[in-house]
Amino acid sequence: MTTDIQPGRLYLVGVGPGDPELMTCKAARILDQTKIWVAPKAKKNGNSSALHIATAQVGVTEKTVLELRFPMVKVHLGRKQADEVVQAWQEAAAVVWSHLERGEDVGFPTLGDPALYSTAFYLLDTLQGRHPDARVTIIPGITAMAACSARVCSPLGLGDDVVSIVPAAFDDDRLRTILTTFDAVILMKVFRKMAKIVTLLDELGLTDKAVLIERCGMDDQKIYTDIRETLGRDLHYFSTLLIRKRGITG
Ligand SMILES: C[S@@+](CC[C@H](N)C(=O)[O-])C[C@H]1O[C@@H](n2cnc3c(N)ncnc32)[C@H](O)[C@@H]1O
Repeated sequence: MTTDIQPGRLYLVGVGPGDPELMTCKAARILDQTKIWVAPKAKKNGNSSALHIATAQVGVTEKTVLELRFPMVKVHLGRKQADEVVQAWQEAAAVVWSHLERGEDVGFPTLGDPALYSTAFYLLDTLQGRHPDARVTIIPGITAMAACSARVCSPLGLGDDVVSIVPAAFDDDRLRTILTTFDAVILMKVFRKMAKIVTLLDELGLTDKAVLIERCGMDDQKIYTDIRETLGRDLHYFSTLLIRKRGITG
């Protein structure tokens, strides 16, 4: 006997960068409607920031939360990924599919916007590799860089600015080229890299063009208009550096 259960839908939901009021109405509605949520965790007993943000807007008591482990390692695209990472993605995809194939929708709250350095796309790629017909909807969210830009009242790009977004996870020469080439640069994941970055920006005469925003919109938010003050500090992972070389009149 065959059953004709329509598979459920996976929703990758951007919940914004931290301030629960920056979660969209659509994100809140979709998460409210889905009974099963994915909570990505870097460590076994770690916390999911996206889950924390989502629960500030949507009740979690009635939800089944699937705590799935996504190792926090550098992913170099186009290369073979580490076995540990591939295994974790496959396990996560299998758990999610076990619900989808029963006709259950699954919501995956993810920090900021799903399209920008989010583990959600590793899950999606693995899931679609095994189940090409998997039904998926992506709900965009407000990015951390948009919130940081708003917080310091400075645009990300204006006029003929050419902007680069950098995950601050590669060698100094490539970063030097980017900093030399682009008019505005957004550096993410800088929390353990500030000593090198400040040295490089000093060398290029750009230190005074940079501002660092730590935990934007969260408790303990900090803004460093003099980024030398970050040196020697244990910065939070949620830190973004905005660099603008040019003003409107010079
Ligand atoms: C894995 S990426 C996720 C980006 C996210 N998907 C987005 O749309 O902004 C994590 C990086 O985002 C930035 N970030 C996330 N939340 C932040 C916040 N509240 N304040 C400052 N930076 C934040 C930091 O640079 C952090 O290292």
